[in-house]
Amino acid sequence: MHAGSARELDWRNRNLEMQTAIDTKVLEGLRQHPKRIPSWYFYDARGGELFQQIMAMPEYYLTRAEHEILRGQAESIFTAAGHTPGTPFAIIELGAGDGSKTKELLRYLIANDFNFIYQPVDISSNAIDLLKENLSDLPEFEMEPLVGDYFEMLQQTMSNDVPKMVLFLGSNLGNYDDATAKQFLQRAANGMQSGDVLLMGLDIVKDPKRILDAYNDAAGITKAFNMNLLERMNRELDADFDKDRFDHAPVYENNQAVSYIISKEDQSVYFGATEERIEFKKGEKIQTEISRKYTRESLQGLLGDSFQITHVFQDRQKDFSDFLLIKS
Ligand code: AVJ
Repeated sequence: MHAGSARELDWRNRNLEMQTAIDTKVLEGLRQHPKRIPSWYFYDARGGELFQQIMAMPEYYLTRAEHEILRGQAESIFTAAGHTPGTPFAIIELGAGDGSKTKELLRYLIANDFNFIYQPVDISSNAIDLLKENLSDLPEFEMEPLVGDYFEMLQQTMSNDVPKMVLFLGSNLGNYDDATAKQFLQRAANGMQSGDVLLMGLDIVKDPKRILDAYNDAAGITKAFNMNLLERMNRELDADFDKDRFDHAPVYENNQAVSYIISKEDQSVYFGATEERIEFKKGEKIQTEISRKYTRESLQGLLGDSFQITHVFQDRQKDFSDFLLIKS
């Protein structure tokens, strides 16, 4: 404990003035039973780096599989979406990440003189800067980054009449439970015109061991990614987590990989930012992420009346699918 330390006083003052939304959200989840941390909290600078490393791990097949699809089937994807070189359209990407997957599509469009504008949306301007950097070696094309909330930005693009192709890749939908995923799809549909398309990349149900291994790589990068949450709370919430007293504990159940941090002993952690203690029992788990796996049927069940599945693009091993959905 560091009661009365200069650092704690500093935090107390800061905290009186501006209890940030982030502080509250994360602590809210830790006060609950069972405990949880929202999965967006992974992505501070270090978490972003670790996620890049995860994507390169031999066990994490998702990214390679989607690359294979987008690289090998770009022509079929745009043909299926009804886009030809002559007619203008907009590609709006929700959460582009480092842009390496989208790059496969952009290369094809540029090489074939398509008339398109690329509008990546991200809440973080840092993410957009990284993306611009990563796409800077492509030949010139029209790009308009939008910094803000996915759905607000999507609404904003409604003002022009250009047909839209919305991208939501990387199985990012998998972080949502089904109720939230339905809501996501509904809100996406509200920002699209009838006939617009959504290309949705989803990880597919398969051998449980392969899935679990993808979230528990032998090199320990996913573990570091998970445990970085504790470091982030130590830094940003002035907490005193001892990483050695916790462990990474992923499971695969009900078609979802679920990541937990488990407490190795009875212990309490102090949060200087809110001057509170949170108790952990030996064996108690904090849920940090779900990564849902889908079938065509389970996706169908989320779509409601908003979208229809028109095409499914798969990698050779059928590990992953990019579903082309048309707005009704
Ligand atoms: C970026 C949410 C798709 O769930 O597979 C990777 C994040 N977490 N390894 C996923 C993640 C642990 C990833 N998504």
